[in-house]
Amino acid sequence: CGIVGYIGQKQAYPILIKGLKRLEYRGYDSAGVGLINEYHKLNVYKAKGKVLNLEELTTQKDVTGCIGIAHTRWATHGEPCQANAHPHVSQSGNLALVHNGIIENYALLREQLQQKGYTFKSSTDTEVLVQLIDYIQTSSHIDLLDAIRIALHRVIGAYAIAVIDRRQPGRILAARKSSPLIIGVGSDEFFLASDATPIVEYTDKVVYLQDNEIAVLEPGKALKVVNLENELQLAEVKKIDLNIGRLEKDGYPHFMLKEIFEQPECINDCMRGRVNKETHEVQLSAISEHKERLLGARRFIIVACGTSWHAGLIGKQLIETFCRIPVEVEYASEFRYRNPVIDNGDVVIALSQSGETADTLAAIELAKEKGAFVYGICNVVGSSIPRNTDTGSYIHVGPEIGVASTKAFTGQVTVLTLFALALSKEKQLINDTTYRCIIDELEQIPEKIKEVLKQNQNIAELSRIFTYAHNFIYLGRGYSYPVALEGALKLKEISYIHAEGYPAAEMKHGPIALIDTEMPVVVIATQNAMYEKIISNIQEIKARKGHIIALINPNDTIISKLADECIEIPETLECLEPLITTIPLQLLAYHIAVCKGKDVDQPRNLAKSVTVE
Ligand code: G6P
Repeated sequence: CGIVGYIGQKQAYPILIKGLKRLEYRGYDSAGVGLINEYHKLNVYKAKGKVLNLEELTTQKDVTGCIGIAHTRWATHGEPCQANAHPHVSQSGNLALVHNGIIENYALLREQLQQKGYTFKSSTDTEVLVQLIDYIQTSSHIDLLDAIRIALHRVIGAYAIAVIDRRQPGRILAARKSSPLIIGVGSDEFFLASDATPIVEYTDKVVYLQDNEIAVLEPGKALKVVNLENELQLAEVKKIDLNIGRLEKDGYPHFMLKEIFEQPECINDCMRGRVNKETHEVQLSAISEHKERLLGARRFIIVACGTSWHAGLIGKQLIETFCRIPVEVEYASEFRYRNPVIDNGDVVIALSQSGETADTLAAIELAKEKGAFVYGICNVVGSSIPRNTDTGSYIHVGPEIGVASTKAFTGQVTVLTLFALALSKEKQLINDTTYRCIIDELEQIPEKIKEVLKQNQNIAELSRIFTYAHNFIYLGRGYSYPVALEGALKLKEISYIHAEGYPAAEMKHGPIALIDTEMPVVVIATQNAMYEKIISNIQEIKARKGHIIALINPNDTIISKLADECIEIPETLECLEPLITTIPLQLLAYHIAVCKGKDVDQPRNLAKSVTVE
């Protein structure tokens, strides 16, 4: 979910709506806004679906006021509908609250409040919180800040909240635990948001609220932050640097296509300052600063979710190949609840685009408790994971807005490649010629991606054939296996076509039963060490009349004859192939989804930042 808030001299509504649109990638099941007008009237409007629906709903309504909070929802408790949309209003009609997270003990609290005479209009955990604050405030006649503090002591779970009180329209109160919340500090005004994107066009001064902190936003006064015990906390103001242009579509029909096309530039940004143009050497500051700990690692455990997990699988192969250290790749959600065997000889690498994924965050907390050293590889600067790790490297690919991850994946793979190379060099496991050769080739990757991007139109045409398909199989071996998984995930996410990725040789142990004339099979068949093997796998599919789409190198003479469709991609070193082979699969998924008329940037049921477990 996404939260926005504004208090100051300007009209809040346009700022809130614009902010919600920037945060819509975090969820778009429903949206709502709460404003207090000059007569101290609290107006709350909510609509099912996207922010546009909310705008339509409010066209003839009173949306005046210099204070307001707003929310875009990804449903957890309660179906997506108007009643369950935020803000939720307290029974007294005085308070409105927006919330991101989950209140785990909401059922018990709800029962207790019902016994006190409270009735509930929604089936959300959030409404319980606003009623609880209301109850504490009215029954004890205390200030809203104290009521929130007491209420939060009774709550189990994760939250980022913003609360307004119609009787005190001069302030917004906000609090967080485990869910992100950022305060923008303007002159005589404050902004509030789940990430910096709604704030950057107004101010570059931000405060990252910490867990168990409550902020009081009161224009004309300095920002006040207290903890749940009411002790004053230091509100450290930081400067953020975010290019607004990167938050716009820039002439592309979708953010996803823009982000696919940005990849050459992103990989350059990711390497900048890390690959020395003169000496052709890799330097990662995190490795230089924590040499002992990283060189001494007995094992690496990569924890991640979704697309980041796929990047982790590639990281495993890179690190094991070049550093000869065992690597495990874990779904963060499984790792955290498995009581994993882990100690201070382990280094945990947390991979996350957003830096906010709740399961990944919890996995690193567990790893730290058990004494592991934690290395973060994230995109969003200042997000929760980088702030909770021992060290790390940003991928620097700029804001990724399309819900289906593209440039963050290739950015993660680039950083993992640099990491493996730098560590291998430190461990003196790589000879100079190989090291130079890989780095030289890595520097060529952005140009080679541009070559692939030139085929966008061909891939768009090819995609039309497949809009009928109900299933897809993606096959790859070695470094291409995680790419097959990622290709399948992209297709599932945005076109809603069922797709599975498999290691090509594993197909004969089951999935081959699915092959018939209606089954498109995408095979990553570049000329690497596994080439001969992949030819056999393709023959097996052909024999069962599957429809083969092969990714091949330009000089291929064998597979080009076997496959039904071919996409040519430039040759590179095997260990760098994922950076190139991923691109046509992203384009294929994109164009199939566009042909099917799907909402590419905001596919149904998904959210980009999953800040609930
Ligand atoms: C969500 C997104 C995926 C993403 C995953 C992990 O499910 O829809 O695209 O890969 O979260 O996100 P992270 O920000 O941790 O990489």
